[in-house]
Amino acid sequence: MYRVPTQEGKLCVVTGANSGTGKEAARRLAGAGANVVLAVRNLDKGATAREEIVEEFPAAALEVRELDLADLASVERFATALTHENVPIDVLLNNGGVMMPPTRMASADGFELQFATNFLGHFALTLRLLPLLLAAAGPTVTTMSSSAAAVGRIKFDDLQRQRHYRPFAAYAQSKLADLLFAQHLALLATERDWDLMSNAAHPGYTRTNLFDAGANLGRKKPKRSIFGDLRYLPAQEVAQGTEPMLFGATSPDATNGAYYGPRGPMGLTGPTTLVRTPRSARHPEVAARLWSVAEGLTGVTVPASL
Ligand SMILES: NC(=O)c1ccc[n+]([C@@H]2O[C@H](COP(=O)([O-])OP(=O)(O)OC[C@H]3O[C@@H](n4cnc5c(N)ncnc54)[C@H](OP(=O)(O)O)[C@@H]3O)[C@@H](O)[C@H]2O)c1
Repeated sequence: MYRVPTQEGKLCVVTGANSGTGKEAARRLAGAGANVVLAVRNLDKGATAREEIVEEFPAAALEVRELDLADLASVERFATALTHENVPIDVLLNNGGVMMPPTRMASADGFELQFATNFLGHFALTLRLLPLLLAAAGPTVTTMSSSAAAVGRIKFDDLQRQRHYRPFAAYAQSKLADLLFAQHLALLATERDWDLMSNAAHPGYTRTNLFDAGANLGRKKPKRSIFGDLRYLPAQEVAQGTEPMLFGATSPDATNGAYYGPRGPMGLTGPTTLVRTPRSARHPEVAARLWSVAEGLTGVTVPASL
């Protein structure tokens, strides 16, 4: 089991921290002594997660803050509040996500929900938090992708999937966008000589709420769990599935631009390893184009002062 090195004195921000890999990451970071911001869209769920962690680590420094990744105004409020407090951020985990709503759904800003939540929200959040990240010593941004990124395609002519919505294709696009984002941020850090590491991770196939939460959006009657459909695939528990992200964010061996995931069968389970970036993500020109499109869509750019 990967042991998070001491995080005493560090501030870590975790999105989607009330459930699944986000909650587990918050728990392990808090256990290693970090101050952790649980960035959640539902404050009650965030408070419950906080209580569970505090029960295990009574001295844990955990703060629950509201962040709806599918609402750029919420992202701005969250980042502005932290900016006013002016505390450097050592670790940002871009983890929150939604998978495969059965019909095309839109974010508060009118973007396809998965593209908005998984990618655009994290894009805007990271750029808005860059000054606080760069104020820390050796900050890290680790972005959660997925093995689905390997079959994703960035459809620049229909990014919002308005013409033809297929739940998995839209999910795969959003997760490929996450991976391209992490890589482009790594490149920018190198070009601009920032002391910032950006890498990406995926959890293989980990038992969390992900597979039911999205699939049930907009349904009156809950759908049978899609875990049933995937029962022949090897799956792992959340403690193991969170490790690639924790490794990317906290290991002294983690590197800028790297991608971490499980090393077991089909990359679905097992201990963490450096994984090959899928062919779909080996296109720096696509990453740069996507970055500039995201700047246009979110209205957020790298602050000129940096
Ligand atoms: N589990 C896997 O096998 C697997 C595989 C590949 C990639 N991933 C990725 O791993 C990450 C974590 O997912 P998980 O497996 O831990 O699933 P999960 O248990 O469903 O957790 C997802 C988290 O994201 C939050 N979230 C969803 N929409 C949000 C929004 N608009 N604003 C803020 N937070 C939002 C959820 O909050 P609520 O509780 O309020 O909905 C929840 O806290 C995701 O990026 C997912 O794509 C997971």
